[in-house]
Amino acid sequence: MNACLDTLALSPRLALTVCRKQEIAHGITLFELAAADHGELPAFEAGAHIAVTTPNGLLRRYSLCNPPSERQHYVIAVKRDELGAGGSKSMVDELAPGSVLAVAPPENYFPLARDAQRYLLIAGGIGITPLLSMVHELRMRGADFELVYCARFPESTAFLDELAAPDLAGRVRIHHSHGDPARAFAVEPLLAQYAGGTHVYCCGPRRLMQAVREAARHWPAGTVHLENFGTSEDPKASGDRLFSVRLERTGITVAVPPGTSILEALRNRGVPAPSSCESGTCGSCRTRLLAGKGEHRDYVLDEDEHDAEIMICVSRAQAGCEQLVLDL
Ligand code: FES
Repeated sequence: MNACLDTLALSPRLALTVCRKQEIAHGITLFELAAADHGELPAFEAGAHIAVTTPNGLLRRYSLCNPPSERQHYVIAVKRDELGAGGSKSMVDELAPGSVLAVAPPENYFPLARDAQRYLLIAGGIGITPLLSMVHELRMRGADFELVYCARFPESTAFLDELAAPDLAGRVRIHHSHGDPARAFAVEPLLAQYAGGTHVYCCGPRRLMQAVREAARHWPAGTVHLENFGTSEDPKASGDRLFSVRLERTGITVAVPPGTSILEALRNRGVPAPSSCESGTCGSCRTRLLAGKGEHRDYVLDEDEHDAEIMICVSRAQAGCEQLVLDL
Protein backbone atom coordinates (compact mmCIF):
# COMPACT_ATOMS: atom_id res chain seq x y z
CA MET A 1 0.00 0.00 0.00
CA ASN A 2 1.44 3.33 -0.87
CA ALA A 3 -1.30 5.91 -0.64
CA CYS A 4 -0.13 9.50 -0.33
CA LEU A 5 -1.49 11.33 2.69
CA ASP A 6 0.64 14.43 2.80
CA THR A 7 -1.97 16.49 4.62
CA LEU A 8 -3.27 13.88 7.05
CA ALA A 9 -3.07 14.84 10.67
CA LEU A 10 -1.79 11.81 12.54
CA SER A 11 -2.94 11.74 16.12
CA PRO A 12 -2.24 10.00 18.35
CA ARG A 13 0.94 8.38 17.09
CA LEU A 14 2.79 5.30 18.22
CA ALA A 15 6.58 5.15 18.18
CA LEU A 16 7.33 1.70 16.76
CA THR A 17 10.70 0.06 16.27
CA VAL A 18 11.69 -1.89 13.16
CA CYS A 19 12.38 -5.39 14.52
CA ARG A 20 12.86 -7.11 11.17
CA LYS A 21 13.58 -5.93 7.66
CA GLN A 22 13.75 -8.48 4.86
CA GLU A 23 13.50 -8.40 1.08
CA ILE A 24 10.82 -11.03 0.43
CA ALA A 25 10.57 -10.67 -3.36
CA HIS A 26 12.26 -8.57 -5.99
CA GLY A 27 11.65 -4.93 -5.00
CA ILE A 28 9.42 -5.81 -2.03
CA THR A 29 10.62 -5.40 1.54
CA LEU A 30 8.88 -6.66 4.66
CA PHE A 31 9.04 -4.68 7.90
CA GLU A 32 8.01 -5.98 11.29
CA LEU A 33 7.21 -3.17 13.74
CA ALA A 34 6.84 -3.43 17.51
CA ALA A 35 6.65 -1.25 20.59
CA ALA A 36 9.94 -0.67 22.40
CA ASP A 37 8.69 -2.74 25.38
CA HIS A 38 7.18 -5.39 23.06
CA GLY A 39 3.81 -4.73 24.68
CA GLU A 40 0.42 -5.16 23.01
CA LEU A 41 -0.36 -2.86 20.10
CA PRO A 42 -3.83 -1.49 19.26
CA ALA A 43 -5.98 -4.26 17.78
CA PHE A 44 -6.72 -4.39 14.05
CA GLU A 45 -9.02 -6.31 11.73
CA ALA A 46 -8.18 -7.92 8.40
CA GLY A 47 -7.99 -5.28 5.66
CA ALA A 48 -6.72 -2.54 8.01
CA HIS A 49 -3.81 -0.21 7.32
CA ILE A 50 -1.49 2.00 9.31
CA ALA A 51 -0.29 5.46 8.30
CA VAL A 52 3.42 6.03 8.86
CA THR A 53 5.73 9.01 8.59
CA THR A 54 8.52 7.87 6.26
CA PRO A 55 12.13 8.77 7.09
CA ASN A 56 12.00 11.57 4.51
CA GLY A 57 8.90 13.06 6.16
CA LEU A 58 6.09 11.87 3.88
CA LEU A 59 2.92 10.20 5.14
CA ARG A 60 2.02 6.85 3.64
CA ARG A 61 -0.57 4.16 4.30
CA TYR A 62 0.48 0.51 4.35
CA SER A 63 -1.83 -2.46 4.77
CA LEU A 64 -1.17 -4.80 7.66
CA CYS A 65 -0.48 -8.30 6.38
CA ASN A 66 -0.07 -10.37 9.52
CA PRO A 67 -2.89 -12.21 11.32
CA PRO A 68 -5.11 -9.84 13.32
CA SER A 69 -4.69 -12.17 16.30
CA GLU A 70 -1.03 -11.09 16.56
CA ARG A 71 -0.97 -8.19 19.02
CA GLN A 72 2.79 -7.82 19.59
CA HIS A 73 3.73 -6.56 16.14
CA TYR A 74 2.50 -5.14 12.87
CA VAL A 75 3.82 -6.46 9.54
CA ILE A 76 3.84 -4.37 6.37
CA ALA A 77 5.39 -4.96 2.94
CA VAL A 78 6.65 -2.03 0.90
CA LYS A 79 7.21 -2.03 -2.83
CA ARG A 80 10.04 0.32 -3.72
CA ASP A 81 8.47 2.60 -6.33
CA GLU A 82 11.14 4.12 -8.56
CA LEU A 83 8.65 6.56 -10.08
CA GLY A 84 6.87 7.58 -6.88
CA ALA A 85 7.35 10.71 -4.77
CA GLY A 86 10.06 9.04 -2.66
CA GLY A 87 8.11 7.65 0.31
CA SER A 88 8.66 3.97 -0.48
CA LYS A 89 12.29 4.54 -1.51
CA SER A 90 12.90 6.27 1.81
CA MET A 91 11.31 3.36 3.71
CA VAL A 92 13.34 0.72 1.91
CA ASP A 93 16.65 2.59 1.68
CA GLU A 94 16.77 4.40 5.02
CA LEU A 95 15.10 2.13 7.57
CA ALA A 96 17.08 -0.56 9.35
CA PRO A 97 16.43 -2.81 12.33
CA GLY A 98 16.30 -0.52 15.36
CA SER A 99 14.92 2.49 13.44
CA VAL A 100 11.89 4.14 15.06
CA LEU A 101 8.83 5.14 13.02
CA ALA A 102 5.87 7.37 13.93
CA VAL A 103 2.74 5.35 13.19
CA ALA A 104 -0.97 6.18 13.48
CA PRO A 105 -3.11 3.37 14.96
CA PRO A 106 -4.78 1.03 12.46
CA GLU A 107 -7.86 2.07 10.51
CA ASN A 108 -9.93 -0.13 8.25
CA TYR A 109 -11.72 0.99 5.09
CA PHE A 110 -11.66 -2.54 3.62
CA PRO A 111 -13.28 -4.79 6.23
CA LEU A 112 -14.44 -8.34 5.66
CA ALA A 113 -18.19 -8.89 5.71
CA ARG A 114 -19.24 -10.98 8.68
CA ASP A 115 -22.16 -12.68 7.01
CA ALA A 116 -20.77 -13.84 3.65
CA GLN A 117 -21.06 -17.51 2.78
CA ARG A 118 -18.00 -17.39 0.55
CA TYR A 119 -15.13 -14.94 0.04
CA LEU A 120 -13.32 -14.47 -3.26
CA LEU A 121 -10.06 -12.51 -2.87
CA ILE A 122 -8.30 -11.11 -5.96
CA ALA A 123 -4.85 -9.55 -5.54
CA GLY A 124 -2.64 -7.83 -8.09
CA GLY A 125 1.05 -7.34 -7.23
CA ILE A 126 1.64 -5.59 -3.91
CA GLY A 127 -2.16 -5.50 -3.52
CA ILE A 128 -1.68 -8.90 -1.86
CA THR A 129 -0.95 -7.18 1.47
CA PRO A 130 -4.49 -6.58 2.86
CA LEU A 131 -5.69 -9.82 1.28
CA LEU A 132 -3.00 -11.84 3.06
CA SER A 133 -4.35 -10.60 6.36
CA MET A 134 -7.81 -11.66 5.17
CA VAL A 135 -6.48 -15.13 4.30
CA HIS A 136 -5.18 -15.46 7.88
CA GLU A 137 -8.51 -14.32 9.30
CA LEU A 138 -10.71 -16.48 7.08
CA ARG A 139 -8.56 -19.52 7.75
CA MET A 140 -8.99 -18.93 11.47
CA ARG A 141 -12.77 -18.56 11.05
CA GLY A 142 -12.90 -21.78 9.01
CA ALA A 143 -14.61 -19.77 6.25
CA ASP A 144 -15.03 -20.77 2.61
CA PHE A 145 -12.62 -18.66 0.56
CA GLU A 146 -10.37 -18.58 -2.49
CA LEU A 147 -7.43 -16.29 -3.27
CA VAL A 148 -6.41 -15.43 -6.83
CA TYR A 149 -3.03 -13.71 -6.78
CA CYS A 150 -1.81 -12.12 -10.03
CA ALA A 151 1.82 -11.05 -10.37
CA ARG A 152 4.10 -10.44 -13.28
CA PHE A 153 6.98 -12.79 -12.44
CA PRO A 154 7.65 -15.49 -9.85
CA GLU A 155 10.59 -13.49 -8.49
CA SER A 156 8.36 -10.46 -7.85
CA THR A 157 5.70 -12.52 -6.04
CA ALA A 158 5.72 -11.95 -2.27
CA PHE A 159 4.64 -14.40 0.43
CA LEU A 160 4.98 -17.51 -1.75
CA ASP A 161 6.12 -19.63 1.21
CA GLU A 162 3.15 -18.62 3.37
CA LEU A 163 0.72 -19.24 0.54
CA ALA A 164 2.17 -22.71 -0.05
CA ALA A 165 0.99 -23.89 3.40
CA PRO A 166 -0.64 -27.33 3.10
CA ASP A 167 -4.01 -26.16 4.46
CA LEU A 168 -4.23 -23.57 1.66
CA ALA A 169 -3.91 -26.17 -1.09
CA GLY A 170 -6.81 -25.75 -3.51
CA ARG A 171 -7.67 -22.31 -2.08
CA VAL A 172 -4.84 -20.27 -3.64
CA ARG A 173 -4.29 -19.70 -7.35
CA ILE A 174 -1.16 -17.81 -8.39
CA HIS A 175 -1.06 -16.44 -11.92
CA HIS A 176 2.05 -15.00 -13.61
CA SER A 177 1.65 -12.91 -16.75
CA HIS A 178 5.43 -12.68 -17.32
CA GLY A 179 4.89 -9.06 -18.27
CA ASP A 180 2.72 -9.96 -21.28
CA PRO A 181 -0.67 -8.18 -21.22
CA ALA A 182 -2.06 -10.96 -23.43
CA ARG A 183 -1.34 -13.38 -20.57
CA ALA A 184 -3.04 -11.27 -17.87
CA PHE A 185 -5.49 -13.17 -15.68
CA ALA A 186 -9.03 -13.02 -17.08
CA VAL A 187 -11.41 -12.08 -14.27
CA GLU A 188 -14.55 -12.15 -16.40
CA PRO A 189 -15.12 -15.95 -16.30
CA LEU A 190 -14.47 -15.96 -12.55
CA LEU A 191 -17.16 -13.36 -11.90
CA ALA A 192 -19.65 -14.17 -14.64
CA GLN A 193 -21.86 -16.31 -12.39
CA TYR A 194 -22.88 -14.81 -9.07
CA ALA A 195 -23.07 -17.52 -6.41
CA GLY A 196 -25.41 -16.48 -3.60
CA GLY A 197 -23.70 -15.16 -0.45
CA THR A 198 -20.32 -14.53 -2.14
CA HIS A 199 -18.38 -11.31 -1.55
CA VAL A 200 -15.39 -10.37 -3.74
CA TYR A 201 -12.43 -8.30 -2.46
CA CYS A 202 -9.89 -6.88 -4.88
CA CYS A 203 -6.73 -4.86 -4.30
CA GLY A 204 -4.24 -4.22 -7.08
CA PRO A 205 -3.48 -2.05 -10.08
CA ARG A 206 -6.20 0.20 -11.45
CA ARG A 207 -6.79 -1.93 -14.57
CA LEU A 208 -7.38 -5.06 -12.44
CA MET A 209 -9.82 -3.27 -10.15
CA GLN A 210 -11.63 -1.76 -13.11
CA ALA A 211 -11.86 -5.22 -14.70
CA VAL A 212 -13.31 -6.66 -11.48
CA ARG A 213 -15.76 -3.80 -11.14
CA GLU A 214 -16.92 -4.26 -14.72
CA ALA A 215 -17.14 -8.05 -14.57
CA ALA A 216 -19.09 -7.96 -11.28
CA ARG A 217 -21.48 -5.20 -12.31
CA HIS A 218 -24.41 -7.62 -12.08
CA TRP A 219 -23.51 -8.71 -8.52
CA PRO A 220 -25.79 -7.48 -5.72
CA ALA A 221 -25.00 -4.12 -4.10
CA GLY A 222 -22.52 -4.36 -1.27
CA THR A 223 -20.83 -7.59 -2.42
CA VAL A 224 -17.93 -6.06 -4.40
CA HIS A 225 -15.16 -4.46 -2.31
CA LEU A 226 -12.19 -2.61 -3.82
CA GLU A 227 -9.09 -1.16 -2.18
CA ASN A 228 -6.48 0.77 -4.08
CA PHE A 229 -3.77 1.14 -1.46
CA GLY A 230 -0.71 -0.86 -2.23
CA THR A 231 -0.76 0.05 -5.86
CA SER A 232 1.15 2.56 -7.85
CA GLU A 233 -0.16 6.07 -8.02
CA ASP A 234 -2.55 6.89 -10.82
CA PRO A 235 -0.49 7.36 -13.97
CA LYS A 236 -2.61 10.42 -14.75
CA ALA A 237 -1.34 12.03 -11.52
CA SER A 238 1.99 13.01 -13.08
CA GLY A 239 0.07 15.47 -15.25
CA ASP A 240 -1.82 17.07 -12.36
CA ARG A 241 -2.19 20.83 -12.61
CA LEU A 242 -3.73 23.68 -10.68
CA PHE A 243 -7.48 24.29 -10.97
CA SER A 244 -10.14 25.69 -8.67
CA VAL A 245 -13.48 24.64 -7.25
CA ARG A 246 -16.32 27.05 -6.60
CA LEU A 247 -18.78 26.03 -3.92
CA GLU A 248 -22.17 27.08 -5.18
CA ARG A 249 -23.96 27.22 -1.84
CA THR A 250 -21.38 29.35 -0.04
CA GLY A 251 -19.76 31.18 -2.94
CA ILE A 252 -16.28 30.16 -1.73
CA THR A 253 -13.60 29.45 -4.35
CA VAL A 254 -10.75 27.13 -3.38
CA ALA A 255 -7.55 26.49 -5.36
CA VAL A 256 -6.59 22.83 -5.84
CA PRO A 257 -2.86 22.56 -6.53
CA PRO A 258 -1.10 19.49 -8.02
CA GLY A 259 -0.63 16.75 -5.43
CA THR A 260 -3.63 17.91 -3.37
CA SER A 261 -7.10 16.44 -3.75
CA ILE A 262 -10.24 18.56 -3.84
CA LEU A 263 -11.17 17.06 -0.49
CA GLU A 264 -7.83 18.06 1.04
CA ALA A 265 -8.03 21.55 -0.42
CA LEU A 266 -11.50 21.99 1.10
CA ARG A 267 -10.32 20.66 4.43
CA ASN A 268 -7.34 23.02 4.41
CA ARG A 269 -9.79 25.85 3.90
CA GLY A 270 -11.94 24.66 6.83
CA VAL A 271 -14.78 23.39 4.62
CA PRO A 272 -16.07 20.05 5.95
CA ALA A 273 -17.01 17.31 3.47
CA PRO A 274 -17.86 13.66 4.17
CA SER A 275 -15.19 11.08 3.38
CA SER A 276 -14.01 7.67 4.43
CA CYS A 277 -11.64 5.66 2.23
CA GLU A 278 -10.10 8.67 0.45
CA SER A 279 -9.11 6.32 -2.33
CA GLY A 280 -12.11 6.50 -4.64
CA THR A 281 -13.75 3.26 -3.63
CA CYS A 282 -16.32 3.77 -0.85
CA GLY A 283 -18.63 6.44 -2.28
CA SER A 284 -18.71 8.64 0.86
CA CYS A 285 -17.47 11.81 -0.82
CA ARG A 286 -19.91 11.72 -3.79
CA THR A 287 -20.66 15.35 -4.67
CA ARG A 288 -22.93 16.93 -7.27
CA LEU A 289 -20.98 18.54 -10.10
CA LEU A 290 -22.87 21.61 -11.31
CA ALA A 291 -20.44 22.86 -13.95
CA GLY A 292 -17.07 21.93 -15.42
CA LYS A 293 -15.63 18.66 -16.68
CA GLY A 294 -14.26 16.18 -14.18
CA GLU A 295 -11.36 13.78 -14.72
CA HIS A 296 -12.81 10.81 -12.91
CA ARG A 297 -10.35 8.55 -11.08
CA ASP A 298 -12.72 6.68 -8.79
CA TYR A 299 -14.23 3.20 -8.84
CA VAL A 300 -17.71 4.30 -7.84
CA LEU A 301 -19.35 6.33 -10.58
CA ASP A 302 -20.64 4.95 -13.84
CA GLU A 303 -19.85 6.77 -17.04
CA ASP A 304 -23.37 8.12 -17.34
CA GLU A 305 -22.95 9.83 -13.94
CA HIS A 306 -19.73 11.63 -14.83
CA ASP A 307 -21.35 14.85 -16.03
CA ALA A 308 -23.35 15.36 -12.85
CA GLU A 309 -21.30 13.90 -10.00
CA ILE A 310 -17.71 13.65 -8.81
CA MET A 311 -15.79 11.81 -6.08
CA ILE A 312 -13.77 14.63 -4.58
CA CYS A 313 -11.19 12.46 -2.78
CA VAL A 314 -9.46 11.42 -6.01
CA SER A 315 -10.97 13.09 -9.08
CA ARG A 316 -9.89 16.41 -10.55
CA ALA A 317 -10.73 18.80 -13.38
CA GLN A 318 -10.04 17.69 -16.93
CA ALA A 319 -7.23 19.37 -18.86
CA GLY A 320 -8.61 22.61 -20.27
CA CYS A 321 -11.16 23.01 -17.47
CA GLU A 322 -10.02 25.70 -15.05
CA GLN A 323 -12.89 25.46 -12.57
CA LEU A 324 -15.40 22.94 -11.27
CA VAL A 325 -18.58 24.14 -9.61
CA LEU A 326 -19.72 21.87 -6.78
CA ASP A 327 -23.02 21.65 -4.93
CA LEU A 328 -21.43 22.44 -1.55
S1 FES B 1 -13.92 9.07 0.40
FE1 FES B 1 -14.33 7.08 -0.37
S2 FES B 1 -14.74 7.48 -2.49
FE2 FES B 1 -14.10 9.39 -1.72
